Amino acid sequence: MCGIVGYVGRKSAKPVLIEGLKRLEYRGYDSAGVAIIRDGQLHLCKSAGRIAGLEDRLDGEPQLATGTVGIAHTRWATHGAPTEDNAHPHTDCTGRIAVVHNGIIENYAALKQVLEEKGHTFRSETDSEVLAHLISEFYRDGDNGSDLPRAVQQALREVAGTYGLAVVCADEPGMIVAARKGSPLIVGVGADEYIVASDASAIVEHTVNVIYLNDNEMVVIDEAGLRTLTIDNVPVSKQVQQIEWSLEQIALGEFEHFMLKEIFEQPEALRNSCRGRLNMREGRIQLGGIEHLSRELVKTRRIILTACGTAWHAGLIGEFLFEDLARIPAEVEYASEFRYRNPIIEDRTVVIAVSQSGETADTLAALREAEHKGAMTLGVVNAVGSTIARETDTGVYLHAGPEIGVASTKAFTAQLTVLTLISLYLGRRRFMSETTLKQYMEELQAIPDKIETVLAQSDAIKQAVEACVDRDNWLFLGRGYNYPVALEGALKLKEISYIHAEGLPAAEMKHGPIALITEGMPVVVVAPRCGTYDKIIGNIEEVRARGGTVIAVATEGDDRIARYAEHVFYIPDCPPALQPLLTVVPLQLLAYHAAVARGCNVDKPRNLAKSVTVE
Ligand code: M6R
Repeated sequence: MCGIVGYVGRKSAKPVLIEGLKRLEYRGYDSAGVAIIRDGQLHLCKSAGRIAGLEDRLDGEPQLATGTVGIAHTRWATHGAPTEDNAHPHTDCTGRIAVVHNGIIENYAALKQVLEEKGHTFRSETDSEVLAHLISEFYRDGDNGSDLPRAVQQALREVAGTYGLAVVCADEPGMIVAARKGSPLIVGVGADEYIVASDASAIVEHTVNVIYLNDNEMVVIDEAGLRTLTIDNVPVSKQVQQIEWSLEQIALGEFEHFMLKEIFEQPEALRNSCRGRLNMREGRIQLGGIEHLSRELVKTRRIILTACGTAWHAGLIGEFLFEDLARIPAEVEYASEFRYRNPIIEDRTVVIAVSQSGETADTLAALREAEHKGAMTLGVVNAVGSTIARETDTGVYLHAGPEIGVASTKAFTAQLTVLTLISLYLGRRRFMSETTLKQYMEELQAIPDKIETVLAQSDAIKQAVEACVDRDNWLFLGRGYNYPVALEGALKLKEISYIHAEGLPAAEMKHGPIALITEGMPVVVVAPRCGTYDKIIGNIEEVRARGGTVIAVATEGDDRIARYAEHVFYIPDCPPALQPLLTVVPLQLLAYHAAVARGCNVDKPRNLAKSVTVE
């Protein structure tokens, strides 16, 4: 999704802005631009397509290298095609005020009409351009002192919708004004320099000290330093916090793609998710984040998990875990549906928001709806300091490290790990014996090493995939805990290799989708040893009888399944509740190798954004 970078300092702004944009590339974009202030003049440079194109253009303007204040943007088209005119920054009619904006201005059409009647001329089809003209309309030249913050405040009072934005003005050449409502914005606080960004990855190279802006807050940065205030001009004091990530974590290293790197990082990510939380000696799960509310949580009558995409699949497994291990009624809801459905929230309902980024617009809105209706809210989030993490009553971080690949992999298994920990934590306080808990803890602790053995099959998976990568329709089947894994496997394949795939609970196949199966259609069956193993073998036979090509995921030592499947990938044995942590790994690798074999851009799949911060 769109990305913002802004710089105020003593260094040349240009390299900081361009490097920052490159760090945000993973979020998805289709055009980019910068505005740099130099010698009291605003210089604009924009380009449709990749950042490399923008860089080439900037190289043609060496004089810009001395500007020390600037803003930059990567755009992911919502209103208007991905053209140079529609790329940000947008300027007012005088060309002296420039704005970069993430989010959506819902009343832009009405505002545009009023501004056009006042003589403003628009150059783009975007909703964002209206902000530049609106700020200009309120800006008073020649005033003593600075007027940009006031003009921005006044403009934002007219606006309906969401924004993270940064503004510069040639008449106030040392200043950036930035504001947020519904779209993340962070300020990096370095030595004599400040970096404004929509994502910590654009900041971490310069400083780990950051300030997170809340909704309806803004920051004014100039030579005098930084001040934070509300859109209504009330000063707010903000704490400087530390980003946990390091630069190495967001670099590719020896890997060709971030997705592959993150698949292979899973053992370490899950060790980190469990670190300090499995007290083997005392037979206790320790979850510092929720400890203070444990009494209330134990009395929970109903858990609603809400999320989108891959996080929703983790939530579906969470539903099974809470029912199975903690004996609490649970259900998972698509956040986009939940937020508009007037959901019933009764006493002692806990709503769990599951999100890697902690910024997904629908998940955040669902969470706010739940809070409004009186639910206790809990975040299962990876990005420390993100909006969902800050707005929930309590939470448990994933500690999986930054996830850059658009296709979520290590965040998914870390979400499962944390949901398992919470289920066990509540289960033990409700009815589970210490012996059972200890067995689960031991099994959970062994999972990272077991994932290593699955990763070792990457080359075999690659070969199997290459044999059927030309097929455009695939099915994924699973039962019980592995039914959501089938959904996740299908989503992974779709999003990065553009192969149509459908995930199903295996028995549902007979109720319609079996009609799709023709000679050679790849059908991936997740069939580890469990209570429904014989049933799923029956499903495999049904596929075979219709000529489908079966690719199975099975438990090590299962010789029987090889008689039914063209390809088998093995996972080490473990309890059914933990199987998704292993069975999903071959499916991630399968999707990855399929995408590479089809020549797709694995880390930047078409039309997709890493973090969906608009509806
Ligand atoms: O940041 P979140 O976990 O809230 O993101 C939710 C989904 O947008 C995300 O999982 C999406 O489905 C991924 N592209 C899947 O790989």
